[in-house]
Amino acid sequence: MTISERLTEPALFKTGAYIGGKWTSGDKSFPVYNPANRQTLADVTDVGAEGAKTAIAAASEGLKRWKKTSPFERCRVLLKWYDLIQRYSDDLGTLITAEMGKPLREAKGEVAYGAAFIEWSAQEAARVHGETLPVAAPGARGWTLRQPVGVVSCITPWNFPAAMITRKAAPALAAGCSIVIKPAPETPLTALALAELADRAGFPAGVFNVICGDAQDLGPVMTGSPEVRMIGFTGSTEVGKLLMRQAADGIKRVSLELGGNAPFIVMDDADLDAAAAGVAQAKFRSGGQTCVSPNRIIVQEGVADAFVGRLQAKIASVKAGDGFDSASDIGPLIHDEAVDRVDALVKSAVAGGAKVLTGGQPLADELGGSFYAPTLLDGGSFDLEIARSEIFGPVASVYRASDETQIVQLANDTPYGLAAYLYTRDIGRVHRMTEELDYGMIGVNAPMVGSASTPFGGVKESGIGREGGKWGVEEFTELKYVLLAGVNG
Ligand code: SIN
Repeated sequence: MTISERLTEPALFKTGAYIGGKWTSGDKSFPVYNPANRQTLADVTDVGAEGAKTAIAAASEGLKRWKKTSPFERCRVLLKWYDLIQRYSDDLGTLITAEMGKPLREAKGEVAYGAAFIEWSAQEAARVHGETLPVAAPGARGWTLRQPVGVVSCITPWNFPAAMITRKAAPALAAGCSIVIKPAPETPLTALALAELADRAGFPAGVFNVICGDAQDLGPVMTGSPEVRMIGFTGSTEVGKLLMRQAADGIKRVSLELGGNAPFIVMDDADLDAAAAGVAQAKFRSGGQTCVSPNRIIVQEGVADAFVGRLQAKIASVKAGDGFDSASDIGPLIHDEAVDRVDALVKSAVAGGAKVLTGGQPLADELGGSFYAPTLLDGGSFDLEIARSEIFGPVASVYRASDETQIVQLANDTPYGLAAYLYTRDIGRVHRMTEELDYGMIGVNAPMVGSASTPFGGVKESGIGREGGKWGVEEFTELKYVLLAGVNG
């Protein structure tokens, strides 16, 4: 069965570019694969640098109208987009599973997660406002305006093909910005389906654009064009640094949600069953391919064996398989290079003294796609490469440490600072440790930190800016100050 035959609304299967309110296609294209079986799903238009320039010109035109639209109207169009996404949630989930690999029920969960950012931002549109200020000069008045930043380039990753788009697009559109989205080349089909639904929702021409193609050609245009005033990006720290350098020339605003190396801390007073369930939930989401995935599971020595036993039982029951098979708990990795990378990390950890308790090998031959076995490693040293770099795969690695002070020091010993998790029942520890951990988000006895109403983002090399909640919308606004001189008499 082809991918479009799986959809209840085959018109959501798009392979062109959506620019200035119109679908276009070009001569150059690139293939999109299903990582579960390596079959080609589609050939998608590569717009090249010229297409990116056209999209930015269209967004500049769209901006003129959209920024003057009433926030109530922006709210209505956004809510219409939200409704359509809910209506076609099964189809969007199907596209996500086909091109990214995560199990269908998880893919539909991502659609709901992504749609919530639209609902939240829509309602926030009417709450963007300035303030009246006291000023020193007699009779004078001062006030601020919150205005849209302008044209925004959104560069989005493959691990959440829907939610990382909506988490940028919705607040930008709510604030009155126009956008050009470039999805990852691995997962353009979900982005293009979202564009089709945006078209049906009624965004004026040029406000919402989606282009696909080679980052080498599109990237410099999307960061360098003078009309672009902001770049929103989710992806690796390495690419984030490159984009920041490119944005520096035009002093453009950046919002960067980058890599992580999340510690998952289990203290000796923690509920160990809840902690083991929490690791399994957070670790295997998107097959371990999230930047908030627990990367170092740091357990206080006294409870380490008891905890590892529980975690091993959980991980041994996690089943890898095709995302369209309802028995699968996790899907494939995004491609074979990702499998090779994860496998090399595991092999070097084992060579460095870590023990494989479950998994520890690729499943590509057995399952016929880019699969890696759900894996548990124990007894690693914090100096191993697997502890220092982002695993981005279904591998949980446990480390042992003695006390609060040492655990905080080890947890902070990384250039990253996105998410951390802390399991303890001691409220004193909660306060002390959350204040000391250098992370943008901390889940206390909670394995999932992201939601539409809360700030998502990191410190240190994990990024700049926040997505989600009122902060996510504020990122896309400029603060303007107006002073009106006093009138004599
Ligand atoms: C990410 O991995 O980039 C996002 C994860 C999330 O929103 O929870």
